[in-house]
Amino acid sequence: MTALLLGNAQMTVGYAPGKVILFGEHAVVYCRPAIAVPVADVRAQASIEPGEAGQGTVVHALDLGRTVAVREAADDDPLAQIVRSTLGVIGGDPDPDLTIEVRSTIPIARGMGSGAAVSTAVVRALLAHFGQWRSSRSISELVYQTEVLYHGTPSGIDNTVIAFEKPVFFVKDEGWEVFWVGMPFLLAIADTGVQSSTKEVVGDLRRRHEANPERYEPLFDRVGEIAIAARDAIEGGHNESLGRLMDENQNLLQELGVSCPELDCLVAAAREGGALGAKLSGAGWGGNMIALVTEETRGRVDMMLRLAGATSVIITEVK
Ligand code: PMV
Repeated sequence: MTALLLGNAQMTVGYAPGKVILFGEHAVVYCRPAIAVPVADVRAQASIEPGEAGQGTVVHALDLGRTVAVREAADDDPLAQIVRSTLGVIGGDPDPDLTIEVRSTIPIARGMGSGAAVSTAVVRALLAHFGQWRSSRSISELVYQTEVLYHGTPSGIDNTVIAFEKPVFFVKDEGWEVFWVGMPFLLAIADTGVQSSTKEVVGDLRRRHEANPERYEPLFDRVGEIAIAARDAIEGGHNESLGRLMDENQNLLQELGVSCPELDCLVAAAREGGALGAKLSGAGWGGNMIALVTEETRGRVDMMLRLAGATSVIITEVK
C-alpha cells in the first residue's frame, strides 16, 4: 500500500498515480483491446487527521477550492461517495470525526485519470488510518463505483491501472489483465493546451461509424491488432517495435478523424527530436500526446515539443 504513517503518528497519507492510454483509444469503445499505463510522476494525495469532536468527516479538496461535509453532501458527490463507501467496507462509525485533505498534481480533465486517482488516494488513506489492508482489486472496485458518478458509463480502465499501478490490457465487456514490462521505457507526455470533450469526440465518431461502418470497422480491427502486438513488444522489451506501433496507431487515429493540427504538430516535433514513435493519447481533438523517448533523446524531444507549442511536458518511466 502506498499509504504512509508520517512522523506525526496521528496523520496518514495515501497516494495514487495518474494514467495515460498508450494504445487503442476509441477502438476500445467498439470492444477492441486497449493498453493504459500508470504515470508515477504526477499523483493525487489524501491526508487524514483526527477532526474536532462532532464535526463528522470533512473533505477539503484544496485544488478545487471545495469543502465537503460528508454527512450533508448529495448522494452523487464523488468525494463524499468514496468516503462513505470506503467507511462502509471498513465497518464501524459511518461518520467519524476526520479531516481529509486532498491535493493533486494530475492535470484535471486531460485524460490522465485525476478523478480515479483522487478516489484511490482517499481509499488508501482511510484504510491506513484504520489500520486495514485491502487488495488492489478491492480498491479498484470501490473506485469504480465513484467513476460512475464522474463519467456515467466508465470502461473501468482508469480505476484498474491506477489501483494496480501496472500496465493494463483491457477489452470492454470482456475484462482486463495487468501485465509486466520487459524493459522499462520513457514516455514524454505533452499537452496541446487545447481543451476537448471526450464525450463530443466519441459522439462524433459514433455518428460517422453509424453512417459508414464498413469504413470504420477495418480501422478499429487494425488498432486492436496493434494493441495486441504492443503488449508483446512491452513484455518482450522491444522498444523500437513499440515506437513503430505508436506511429501506426497515430496514422489510424488520423484516419478515424480524432487528431487535430495541434496534435499532429506535436507528434511531428517529437519524431523530429528523435522519439521512437509518437501518437495522441485519449480522446483527441486536443488534450495530450505521448512520445517514446530514451535517456539520449528525452532532452531534445522535450525541447522540440515546447518549441512546437506544448503547454507542459512530463517525462515518465513506465516499469
Ligand atoms: O480521455 P481519456 O484518456 O479517458 O480517453 C478516452 C478514451 C476513449 O477511448 C476515446 C473513450 C473511452 O471511453 O474509452
